[in-house]
Amino acid sequence: MTEQQTWSQRFESALHPAIARFNASIGFDIELIEYDLTGSQAHAKMLAHTGIISPEEGNLLVTGLEQIRQEYRQGTFNPGIDAEDVHFAVERRLTEIVGDVGKKLHTARSRNDQVGTDTRLYLRDQIQKIKNQLREFQAVLLDLAEKNIETLIPGYTHLQRAQPLSLAHHLLAYFHMAQRDWERLVDVYRRVNISPLGCGALAGTTFPIDRHYTAELLDFENIYANSLDGVSDRDFAIEFLCAASLIMVHLSRLSEEVILWSSEEFRFVTLKDSCATGSSIMPQKKNPDVPELVRGKTGRVFGHLQAMLVMMKGLPLAYNKDLQEDKEGLFDSVNTVKACLEAITILLKEGLEFRTQRLAQAVTEDFSNATDVADYLAARGVPFREAYNLVGKVVKTSIVAGKLLKDLKLEEWQQIHPAFAADIYEVISPRQVVAARNSYGGTGFAQVRNALLAARVQIKK
Ligand code: ARG
Repeated sequence: MTEQQTWSQRFESALHPAIARFNASIGFDIELIEYDLTGSQAHAKMLAHTGIISPEEGNLLVTGLEQIRQEYRQGTFNPGIDAEDVHFAVERRLTEIVGDVGKKLHTARSRNDQVGTDTRLYLRDQIQKIKNQLREFQAVLLDLAEKNIETLIPGYTHLQRAQPLSLAHHLLAYFHMAQRDWERLVDVYRRVNISPLGCGALAGTTFPIDRHYTAELLDFENIYANSLDGVSDRDFAIEFLCAASLIMVHLSRLSEEVILWSSEEFRFVTLKDSCATGSSIMPQKKNPDVPELVRGKTGRVFGHLQAMLVMMKGLPLAYNKDLQEDKEGLFDSVNTVKACLEAITILLKEGLEFRTQRLAQAVTEDFSNATDVADYLAARGVPFREAYNLVGKVVKTSIVAGKLLKDLKLEEWQQIHPAFAADIYEVISPRQVVAARNSYGGTGFAQVRNALLAARVQIKK
């Protein structure tokens, strides 16, 4: 460890090389470098501002850190395992660039408050990016819905045909899930956006620092009130992973539907060549790899949430090295959510073609208008449960006779109940079945048009 020695003089021998590798986080926390530099610049400015170091020293530190940023961007700063982590790597390079004054950067600071600051700055950026991606996803859903207000699609419960729907209504369900996802991120952001900088190792510092000053420079909304909590809190990351997991739940549900819809059994959508793949042996195959991958990747995000919860649950205050384990899962979750949102958005935008003829046909092939027959009688004074039982019988005899409800003659209807009149045929036509569900939030075309307008307003906020 002679070369990489950063520890105090109390250490006599170097780390075992395997232990150095085991201990190091530079392999993944290099992802935080830009945030580390920004955080350190704010800290250096604060040290000068409070007179803890001189203004000249402050300037040197800030410009030296900026040089590291340029080196990193140009690809010439590539710290190795001997640096242990990104914080040491930066401090060491800074001292090479600006000389001994570089060693003053760590005054009144610990890597514990430093890494907490970096992670929050990183997550703040990523949350904004994911929020933007959610908005794009929502906009594509709205465009698709707009075009398909009058397209009918079977609606299911228990994956059994239930009642037909406007396809737009079905798509808007995903819009609203994404809206909650977006709002959840807004909420999570509030708790990510709190500065732990200046909490020190665990107890604060003997120097006359100004935590509000660094918080302001870094655009934090607030600062941690308790130093122990500040350095050891990872609630913000767990909350983010919860929000990320729910985004994945929603993308995975949509994926599952696209997979079903593209199957020969459903034939509701065709996958365009730009978003489908073939088989290496079966020449006829066109596979929905994109939604399958999204569905498959969901598990790892849930896993990272679980890992973080378990990692935290037994930790005594304050910082423990276990906390170094917060990063890889967080980064992987961020990258996974971003990649999945991008892929699904492209899939919806240009990779899917709804087979409208087939859909129009599909909604005429079943008994999904049976509720409407019961409602017809109920609206004419028959108690609903009685009407329900009557229609159940009609469905049973129709199945035996190999007929659908639309095939029954008016006399047959009137034998079932005298309240039936010639308008029953219109009432049970799929288009009317959908149009009639005009209760607030229902699939009726008028409702769907209103919902679309409201959704457009919602994503402008
Ligand atoms: N690499 C460490 C982490 O990611 C930085 C903080 C180390 N602090 C410490 N006291 N060893 O958590």
